[in-house]
Amino acid sequence: MRTLISNGTIVTAEGSYPADVLIDGEQIAQIGVDLAAAGVSADETIDATGRYVIPGGIDVHTHMELPFGGTFAKDTFETGTRAAAFGGTTTIVDFAVQSRGKSLREGLDAWHAKAEGNAVADYGFHMIMSDVTDETLREMDQLVAEGVPDFKLFTAYPGVFFSDDGAIFRALQQTEKNGGLIMMHAENGLAIDIVAAQYAEGGKTDPYYHGVVRYPVFEGEATNRVIRLAEAAGVPVYIVHLSARDALEEVRAARDRGSMAFAETCPQYLFLSLDDLGNGFNGAKFVCSPPLRPKDHWDELWRGLVKDDLQVVSTDHCPFDFEGQKELGRDDFRKVPNGLPGVEDRVDLLHDGGVVGGRITRERWVELIATAPARLFGMYPHKGAVAVGADADLVIYDPNRRHTISAKTHHMDVDYSCYEGREVQGGSDVVLSRGAVIVRNGEFTGRKGAGRFVKRTPADFARLA
Ligand code: URP
Ligand code: ZN
Ligand code: ZN
Repeated sequence: MRTLISNGTIVTAEGSYPADVLIDGEQIAQIGVDLAAAGVSADETIDATGRYVIPGGIDVHTHMELPFGGTFAKDTFETGTRAAAFGGTTTIVDFAVQSRGKSLREGLDAWHAKAEGNAVADYGFHMIMSDVTDETLREMDQLVAEGVPDFKLFTAYPGVFFSDDGAIFRALQQTEKNGGLIMMHAENGLAIDIVAAQYAEGGKTDPYYHGVVRYPVFEGEATNRVIRLAEAAGVPVYIVHLSARDALEEVRAARDRGSMAFAETCPQYLFLSLDDLGNGFNGAKFVCSPPLRPKDHWDELWRGLVKDDLQVVSTDHCPFDFEGQKELGRDDFRKVPNGLPGVEDRVDLLHDGGVVGGRITRERWVELIATAPARLFGMYPHKGAVAVGADADLVIYDPNRRHTISAKTHHMDVDYSCYEGREVQGGSDVVLSRGAVIVRNGEFTGRKGAGRFVKRTPADFARLA
């Protein structure tokens, strides 16, 4: 099957230019001006006049079916990748979970079983490590060889995913040997639990207090600590879901002194704030960790994106219904399952708030949503690029189309939207996954099970730092 995308403007991290794209099978075969006039034939031609042709979005932080707080994140690999595709994202990297006392292998196998035959678009895995033991450290090497080269550890969630500094340091040291990457959830969970208990025992149990007790300085302190540990081990580290100015200052300082520190932020930290956690129990819809911060953190995060102290925007997509799931914490904010839906909205929110809002260029937008994640997570140039030989994961994006985000129309399997009623400019008209059209003008045309596991190799972090 040969598909010609004609008359569009190709937008990549490097630049923008008018050109046609010929897809042959699953890959991009040719890029050039007026290919039809030059005699190129195709089975189908898609006219992209007035629209961008961009690499499919890559969301390197999702949690499909994550067990959390006595329940499970609601999207499956089928519903989650389908919703992602509607929003212009054609690859996700999800977090497989090693449960306490079990092996990494068991966790990874379980996640393969969830995804295989269900995902509509491509997916990879990182591994959440709950135990750092001689055995799990050995297993890390095997996972790197199998294309799962990143491991998430937590300084948060004592008793659940928490690792102490010694465990974190051992895991960092192991990546010095196997080339992998440690991803850190950096908040001081032990200190947070003390403040949280004090508030709850004082009768302050509303979701709002989730945002109060997790001080920004607790994120800054943990960020500094894990970066310093990585420096001591001589390895890179990637800070996930960075939310606070305090943490960004630590990343910036580390990068300025030559450290291989990388970080992502998420749309919720750019567009939502502590105010959203107010409004009684409705605030539970906005409970995630790290929490939403006061609005005065926004400008600093945008500056971080412009200056490349933040390299990636991912979603941390982890959806729980308000009814029946978030409600588990009706009496106590500590029991609200942590996580927000967002995999469908990332590309458009960043386009609207970033490009249309005049904060970033359209090239930087593509870099943040696709190219940089592909580079850092070992998928480039197969993914994250509009280039001959790359996978034909492409989005024909209308930069002028406007739509209103709503739970009534979104495709994520969750009963609310954090952005309900927000109008955004920009939308994905046609979405292709390895050459196949999977979304066309609001209709799903893909197939359950068509998504493939993406085997990834560790990036050259010293070059990317
Ligand atoms: O609130 C969040 N972020 N839930 C998902 C788990 C995690 O820490 O990423
Ligand atoms: Zn986390
Ligand atoms: Zn997460």
